[in-house]
Amino acid sequence: MTRSLTMDKPDERNRLDAMRQGVIGKPLDRPDGPAKTTGTATYAAEYKVDGCVEGVIVTATISKGEVVEIDEASVTSMAGVIAVISDARMVARPAQGGAGKSPVRDVRKVEYWGQPIAVVIAETFEQARDAAKHLQVKYRAEEGAVVDQHSADAPVEPQDATVQGDLDHAMREAAHTVDVTYTTECHNSAPMEPHASIAQWNGDTLTLHSSLQMLKYNVKELADALGLPPDKVRLISPYVGGGFGSKLGISVEGVAAAVAAIELKRPVRVVLLRQQVFQSMMRRSETTQRLRLAADREGRLIGFGHEVRVSNLPGESFAEPVTQASEFLYAGHNRLLRVDLARIHLMTAGSVRAPGEAVGMQALEAAMDELADAAGIDPVGLRLRNIPERHPSQDIPYSSRKLAECLKQGAERFGWKAGERKPRQRRDGEWWIGTGVASAARVHNLNEAQARVTLRADGTAEVASDMTDIGTGSYTVLGQIAAEMLGLDPALVEVRLGDSTFPPGAGSGGSWGAASTGSAVFEACEAIRLALADRLGCAEDQLVLKDGFAETGNRRVAFSELLDGEPIDQLGHFKAGKIADAFSAAMYGAFFAEVAVNAYTGETRVRRFHGTFGLGRVLNAKTATSQCMGGMVWGIGSALTEEMVFDKRDGHLVNPDLAEYHIPVNLDVPHLDVVLLDERDPAGSPLQAKGVGELGICGAAGAICNAIHHACGVRVRSFPITPDKIL
Ligand code: MOS
Repeated sequence: MTRSLTMDKPDERNRLDAMRQGVIGKPLDRPDGPAKTTGTATYAAEYKVDGCVEGVIVTATISKGEVVEIDEASVTSMAGVIAVISDARMVARPAQGGAGKSPVRDVRKVEYWGQPIAVVIAETFEQARDAAKHLQVKYRAEEGAVVDQHSADAPVEPQDATVQGDLDHAMREAAHTVDVTYTTECHNSAPMEPHASIAQWNGDTLTLHSSLQMLKYNVKELADALGLPPDKVRLISPYVGGGFGSKLGISVEGVAAAVAAIELKRPVRVVLLRQQVFQSMMRRSETTQRLRLAADREGRLIGFGHEVRVSNLPGESFAEPVTQASEFLYAGHNRLLRVDLARIHLMTAGSVRAPGEAVGMQALEAAMDELADAAGIDPVGLRLRNIPERHPSQDIPYSSRKLAECLKQGAERFGWKAGERKPRQRRDGEWWIGTGVASAARVHNLNEAQARVTLRADGTAEVASDMTDIGTGSYTVLGQIAAEMLGLDPALVEVRLGDSTFPPGAGSGGSWGAASTGSAVFEACEAIRLALADRLGCAEDQLVLKDGFAETGNRRVAFSELLDGEPIDQLGHFKAGKIADAFSAAMYGAFFAEVAVNAYTGETRVRRFHGTFGLGRVLNAKTATSQCMGGMVWGIGSALTEEMVFDKRDGHLVNPDLAEYHIPVNLDVPHLDVVLLDERDPAGSPLQAKGVGELGICGAAGAICNAIHHACGVRVRSFPITPDKIL
């Protein structure tokens, strides 16, 4: 039996609360934690497969043109080399998958430096890598490929814009204005586990162990790339060492391994080199953001402008949605929000953790700080007085929204000193000390999901879905939901994920994974409860499940008896429904940072970093807190160090590894203090939960930027804020 749940109106039922088991929300440890920390969790490349050969991808060394000849003979006599494959199927589906539609590309037509053009297969990895290095490729390079989005030669395509009232007029009439332009550079998702796949072909079925976020889409993408029916493709991805958007879609190493396995009739492993993860997968677009804010004497916004330029390859549909939170976060009747997409020959731009808000919020929140300065208003107070009653352009209500509570409670916990703020007031030796605030906001998304729950007569249960756990805690929270609903010790619920033979879950993307797949688990458990109530002869709301017993009134029957040896198996099917059109649903928060800026070197150290968040029901206090912390670490990187540096002549990446692309390390990250407010969002999901994974980045770098200004008086409008820009 399948039970379907469609979210068309706010779910006020509070079914999860009615269970009163005390499991949901608890900071339980991850069941997969010990395997991961002891190195016994098997990641995609680590499966022992007999007779497996190794592939290394070869990438283009021109930025635009044509591959004229791949001289296979240049490597076929090298030790261990089995084949050189340059197959159109390899690049038919570049890496963004769920993030947007890609054109079908010709493997011989080069659109960017680093584009995959071939795979070399050898007996060992070292042999394959050596041959890949020596493979002779002849190109016909086209001169003058534009690799810089600011170049006047880049064609620009305007995306949808929000135009309301007259922003120019508001800017002229306002008591206080800012008109500033911020820039951010390209970011890399930089997952710890590189993209990796092992393909096995058994004559008519392909099995791919791979590192992926969205199996239900990835099956179709791979089948499509190979020209196979989707039911002949199986994906296995139980552990994923980070994705952050770069594994939303099937990527080149998986298709290359599959093509080679089919052709050679041998298992093939392909793991991207770290440099290829950086140069050949996906980038977050660089952005140029003009912010115009117009406020009356009291600091109330009457005009709000956020005009952005981003870039992508020709033909790609994805445009970093930078103004996404600007649409709904603050007031201002006169509005102009637009994104222009420049077409350039730089690697594919796609989704990187919190596409849109990650960079849009950091610039907006820095501009809000400039407005607070201009108006002489405390920046917390400025934000509080600009929280609109209804969505400022769509005129729909908000679902639960705790932005004001986050700002107020965060300020109190951090010890924020309200009032006039002058820079260069606190000094500690050679360091200027300053504090900064920023709001957090990220849209709430849902996605269709299915999950099967099985309750067994021995009082154990199993949850199965092709949902992935990319480090987020899916195993933990899905087990918790089932345990809460069925009255079981969470240790007795086994969660099985990451196999495309399981019912299609929501996948891990857009922060929708837990709320969406969790709702499918919830619905499957409801169906089990109905079946048990039926057997017990009572209404479902009179049924209490506890410790392997079903109770109603003064009757108490063991599952073993009620199930009569046969497990109960139910499929839950969650469909997102119409709720998205009726409410503006989002997650909110507030960041408070204290930084020290060295007066002589311009170096910035983050000394304290606090975040208070309201993101709907918390399913697990530990995993949710960790997600927020992870986001804030990204915020530190985005503020201070992270930038992909492309050579302006040919678009090749100058810093393609973790030694040169600087993500924050332990010494860069102070104690992170995270508070999650108690919140239920009836319009968020049937669980009354919203998303968690991306909120912690959205605005975080703005708080650091603002703290730098408060510390030393320098307002840097180009991220990352490196020492050279401060001095
Ligand atoms: Mo996310 S950037 O949708 O994995």
